[in-house]
Parts: sequence; structure tokens; C-alpha cells
Amino acid sequence: MLAIIGGTGLTQLSNLEITHRQVMRTPYGEPSGALTFGLINQHEVIFIARHGYGHTLPPHLVNYRANMWALKEQGAKRIVSIASVGGIRDDLVPGTLVVPSQIVDYTHGRASTYFDARDQAVTHIDFTHPYSAALRSSLLKAGRLAGENLVDGGVYAATQGPRLETAAEINRYEGDGADMVGMTGMPEAALARELGLSYAAIAVVVNHAAGRGESSDGINLEKISAVAQPALARVRNIIERLVENDGE
Ligand code: HPA
Repeated sequence: MLAIIGGTGLTQLSNLEITHRQVMRTPYGEPSGALTFGLINQHEVIFIARHGYGHTLPPHLVNYRANMWALKEQGAKRIVSIASVGGIRDDLVPGTLVVPSQIVDYTHGRASTYFDARDQAVTHIDFTHPYSAALRSSLLKAGRLAGENLVDGGVYAATQGPRLETAAEINRYEGDGADMVGMTGMPEAALARELGLSYAAIAVVVNHAAGRGESSDGINLEKISAVAQPALARVRNIIERLVENDGE
């Protein structure tokens, strides 16, 4: 089954015919909210709002382990993450939708692994390619079917937040190879890999990163939701095409 993790501005999927909701407990605590089960054009999907349904959980307090665990326990095999980002690369202007291909992780202090029990054999995962190649292709195809020009690839810098970055930090991340910056991509992607789930993301560029373009003098926070709303309507369309074209 496909699961969708909705980010900022996406606390529900308007095209989801809800069948039921389920409150879950996991060995890692409670997920961000009840899992929402439903149908998109007859295909079953699970939805969860990463920041809670009332948008009250900041990125560093999201219980990523509980979210991913709960989705797996309920039968999710593939996870599509929707996440807003600031654009660093010149072409990643507000309103652009990107399917990122790589990650640099700058987060700290988050519970970021399931393999941390002292009596457990030391376990490493391969994370060379952090996103599922098959699910990335399916997303890109769904984008084409929806008439959207999804940007194929880019490096996602995951920052701790909740504050936005300084202009110098953005310059540093760009020097490290980053094309976009967001606060929720990690440890989510690594936890999916640890659980053997296919994981890919649609990054929604909602602002120029700090010090760049329109944000050269600061990031206009009011403008972000004005950019996000129409972009998220396009994302819903892409998700519909995804479930129609390779639903399980
Ligand atoms: N930085 C970090 N996270 C973000 C941004 C940003 O500029 N925009 C949306 N999420």
C-alpha cells in the first residue's frame, strides 16, 4: 500500500475518500496523529500529517520513528513524503516541484535510528542512494501524466530548524552540494530504509533560501503560504496520477 506523509500546508488530502482513522501506539511512542485510511480513485492509501492535524509539531519534535513504524505496521510498502523547501539552486524558484535524489543531513539530536538497543548486533544500512529509484521514477511519470514539469533530482539539505537559515549557512550548504533546504527530510528517509520501505519525496519550493533571490533581505513568511497552496493542489493531482498508474 502507498502512504503519503503530508508536510506543512498539507494536513489533509482533499481527493481522499476517507474510510477510517486509526490512533496508533508504537514501541517508540505516538505518531504525529491518527493514521487516515482512504481511497483515491478506488486505490487504498494511508495518510498522515507530519506536523499533526493542527500543525502543532515543529520539525525537530516530530516522532519520525513512530510515524514510520506505524505506517509499516499498517501495511505501507511505499512512502511518498511531501515537504516544503527553500530553493538554493537558481532554477529552483518558488512554485517549483522537485523529486530530490540526494540528501545531506545537518540535523542533530533527533532519534534517528531503530538500531540503538545495547543488546542488539551493530547494524548499518546502505544509504548511498537515499531515495527509492523505482518510486522516484513513478513520481516523475505521474508528474508527466499530470502535465507537471517535475525537476528530476537535486540535493536536499536537511536542517535542524525550526529557525530558518542565515545567508552564510546557505552559502555553506551550496558549497556542500545542496540545491534545496528543508527541515524534515531526515531522519525520515533513513528510518524508511531501516524498515525496508520504499521512500521518495516531492519537495515543494515555497521560497528562495535565505540570502538568495527574493529572500536576499530576508524570507517573507506571509508569502510562503500563498505560494504553497496552489503548489500543493498540483501535488494532489500528481498523487492521483501516481495511485492510478501504479497502485498496488
Ligand atoms: N529553509 C528550511 N526549511 C524550509 C525553507 C527554508 O528556506 N522553506 C521551507 N522549508
